[in-house]
Amino acid sequence: MQNRDKFTTSRGVMTATLGSAVGLGNIWKFPYFTGKNGGAAFIIIYLICVVLAGLPVMISEFVIGRRANSNPVGAFKKLAPGTAWHAIGYSGIAASFLIMLFYTGVAGWVYSYIFRAISGNFINASPEITREVFGKLITSSYEPIIWQIIVLVVVSSIIIAGVQKGIERMTKALMPLLFVLLLLCDIRALTLPGALNGVEFLFKPDFTKLTREVVIIALGLAFFKLSVGMGTMVTYGSYFDKTQNLPGTAVKVALSDILVSMMAGLAIFPAVFAFGFEPDAGPGLLFITIPMVFSKMPLGNILLAIFFLLTAIAATTAMMSLLEVPVAYLVEEKGCPRTKATLMSAATIALLGSTASLSADTGSLLGGIKIFGKTFFDLYDYISSNILMPMGGLFTVIFIVWVLGKTNLERELSNNGRLNNESVVNLFYIIVKYISPLLIILIFLDSIGILKF
Ligand code: TRP
Repeated sequence: MQNRDKFTTSRGVMTATLGSAVGLGNIWKFPYFTGKNGGAAFIIIYLICVVLAGLPVMISEFVIGRRANSNPVGAFKKLAPGTAWHAIGYSGIAASFLIMLFYTGVAGWVYSYIFRAISGNFINASPEITREVFGKLITSSYEPIIWQIIVLVVVSSIIIAGVQKGIERMTKALMPLLFVLLLLCDIRALTLPGALNGVEFLFKPDFTKLTREVVIIALGLAFFKLSVGMGTMVTYGSYFDKTQNLPGTAVKVALSDILVSMMAGLAIFPAVFAFGFEPDAGPGLLFITIPMVFSKMPLGNILLAIFFLLTAIAATTAMMSLLEVPVAYLVEEKGCPRTKATLMSAATIALLGSTASLSADTGSLLGGIKIFGKTFFDLYDYISSNILMPMGGLFTVIFIVWVLGKTNLERELSNNGRLNNESVVNLFYIIVKYISPLLIILIFLDSIGILKF
């Protein structure tokens, strides 16, 4: 058997896995959804979704990856030879490509904003100006593509360097840096006069806002946030050591990820409210509201550059985990050299990704083209987040219970009896057997409109 590259330390496992979870989702999805959907009340629903669906799928993926010691397609082939289960692996590869198509585009905008902030583009900017700057960027026919290619070059170089020398080494350095930069932004935002309104927006529990839709949003977010349902964690799990505590790692990653999301919210909303603006989500929040708000503070430009730098770090470490999925597949299943596999995947993304980055807004070049009423950008997001990921997660937990079976599971989760965690394993088994599948099926049917409660 070929000698596989692996994460060498437990800390490396943590930073790499957390690096995958922490991404654009923490900055432009979580804080906004929380504020809009009942603050602390939403956080409670989100935590329930994490515990009952996100974490169980993450742990299941770790188990599959580490046990098979292989990429998602190879892993299911090894654990269930002669069956069709490896289709889950292919679906994961497809999903990671689709996510990469729009994610690399947005990351490109983020990269470009670091330089825009430093060069003073936003000093004392009015809403009209920040709106115009963003509009110009995304309607340009070449600029977004150039930035997207720069992003792909950065991510590819790290992936080519390898699991240990690339992913592990980079995330070990970058994740602490991200945390410190975020802390800086928090301190600045929370010491602004009127900051408390933003804290209230984020945390004040309002249980009247909890509707069925909110539960769907929370589940989708839990999957996207934790990078589960598409083989990413199978791939990373295959690089874990046999002594790594799988449930423990998953819990730590999920908790740290929530902490980062809340810190991002505390960097953004106090400032938004302090200057009397309305909270927004997605591209609007990140590329129009934030530059305007931050530029109003003393030394705001530096802070803005710091903010986009930390967002770029978050997006970059998340993209490493996305690109690693097809690369691991090509290397192990197709015998392709790592460099070639990476360059081929990146080139495909660059080629097709321009359809996403040029269609992100109705005013942009391809924005007028609609498929099923969605732009390319939204279509890639919808197919991956609302269809492939819930399906992948569902089949993964079904596989764990009905194919792998309880005995193997107990062995894997307790590291062959070395960890004394019987009660954790039993609880996990009940959740993956009964609760996660039911929850995912109900929410999936509802979200694609087959079932209406
Ligand atoms: N978790 C990342 C975020 O919040 C996105 C991400 C990276 C992802 N890898 C993934 C989502 C794999 C789903 C599957 O931005």
